[in-house]
Amino acid sequence: MAKPQHDLVVVANRLPVDLRLDESGNATWKRAPGGLVTALAPLMQSNEGAWVGWPGMADLAIDPFDSDGIWMVPVSLSETEIAEYYEGFSNDTLWPLYHDVIARPSFHREWWDTYREVNEHFASMADYAAAEGATVWVHDYQLQLVPALLRAARPDLRIGYFHHIPFPPLEIFSQLPWRRQIVEGLLGADLVGFQRSGDAANFLRSVRKLTDHTTSGQLVEIDDAEDRLVRQVKASAFPISIDSGQFDKLAQTASVRARAAEIREELGNPDCILLGVDRLDYTKGILHRIKAFSELLRDGDVDPAKVTMVQVASPSRENVDAYQQLRDEVEVQVGRINGEFGGIGRTVINYLHHSYPMEEMAAFYLASDVMLVTSLRDGMNLVAKEYVAARSDDRGVLVLSEFTGAAEELTAALLINPHDIDGTKAQVLAAINMPVTEQRRRMRRLRRRVLADDVAKWSNRYLATLTDVATSQPERVDT
Ligand code: G6P
Repeated sequence: MAKPQHDLVVVANRLPVDLRLDESGNATWKRAPGGLVTALAPLMQSNEGAWVGWPGMADLAIDPFDSDGIWMVPVSLSETEIAEYYEGFSNDTLWPLYHDVIARPSFHREWWDTYREVNEHFASMADYAAAEGATVWVHDYQLQLVPALLRAARPDLRIGYFHHIPFPPLEIFSQLPWRRQIVEGLLGADLVGFQRSGDAANFLRSVRKLTDHTTSGQLVEIDDAEDRLVRQVKASAFPISIDSGQFDKLAQTASVRARAAEIREELGNPDCILLGVDRLDYTKGILHRIKAFSELLRDGDVDPAKVTMVQVASPSRENVDAYQQLRDEVEVQVGRINGEFGGIGRTVINYLHHSYPMEEMAAFYLASDVMLVTSLRDGMNLVAKEYVAARSDDRGVLVLSEFTGAAEELTAALLINPHDIDGTKAQVLAAINMPVTEQRRRMRRLRRRVLADDVAKWSNRYLATLTDVATSQPERVDT
């Protein structure tokens, strides 16, 4: 079989398609909604693009296939690989370590071995898919070794990496027994992109402290054994966004508007609806949010007959202990508060442990008066941007944690430190009571920002910088 020749290859832990079974039990793949694939689709369709990723189930060995003009290259993972690479090293070691050790990271040598092996597997699939001189764009913390593995096998490639989550300060990153290997893995790329300039600065400091490479501004110099400069790696910030135009349009459709009105009705037409939308993850500060809300009820500042909260908590990483514990804690608190402040036919916190399609999410955003984003640490937080994009009526208030990447851009939100319960309560109260004129003034500023910087602009800016960096590499030294 001829080797595939793709000029643009995306490598990410997950494929952007979901497996569906039709009535006769036949498997079909449906494009999963997601900003990244939407933004890259036109580019990939015109560049013979390929996407290397895991289809989301164990031992699914399937051949590459076309999905709406993108060549999908499935990476098969065994149950042990899922347990050790995905649930283990990615989500029970790196995830908590990179999010300020909110939960305690587990360090296991077997998990690291499997992480390395799976990264080798992804790198060899990318090698197989990429044409001579192709651009390969690697995504996120699950695949930090892929850039260097790929560079070693294919020096002809232009390699980019984007880190979607925070990169921690050196003092925390240093806990990782394999910290140097991770940094060297990332340095295989020509361009290492981060959400915030603070993340890039953390990474550059780790490079200086943990390796022999020197840095100059945003550039890391990679020398050969004779100390001659071979290439440079750029580390800088590219804050990601959403397909804001699409969200804006969707939220203006008659069906979404009607559904929003119906949701308000179903909730008993309260004066005020507070909304939280998160993956059920300990980084999202869901318990802090519930605590602030319950104290407002207890203090009598909020009347449970007039104000209601909706918490959408989509199931996530359910085999990881910390996630199971969080679910138990959230459900105990929700039950306690509903028992104390609810009445017959009147729920104070409407807790929904489900995922919803985009249309339903847009209706939730439109139906609510206050959006609560209380993350303790968050790379960007796209929910905050979706909320803003959905509010073409210029109404609604965004309460936003300062520990999200989004807070650097969305300065017209009511910013909070979720650890400061009194401060959070004051801002939630201010949001509930905010006059319409001020809502409009803030929302217009937020919308200008979110509608201007969409995900297509983000990927174009990233790829243009990658081209610049790769084409201005110093001449290779012949030995
Ligand atoms: C975060 C990560 C992504 C990840 C997503 C969902 O946004 O940055 O890489 O795909 O969470 O998590 P999951 O473990 O279900 O892929």
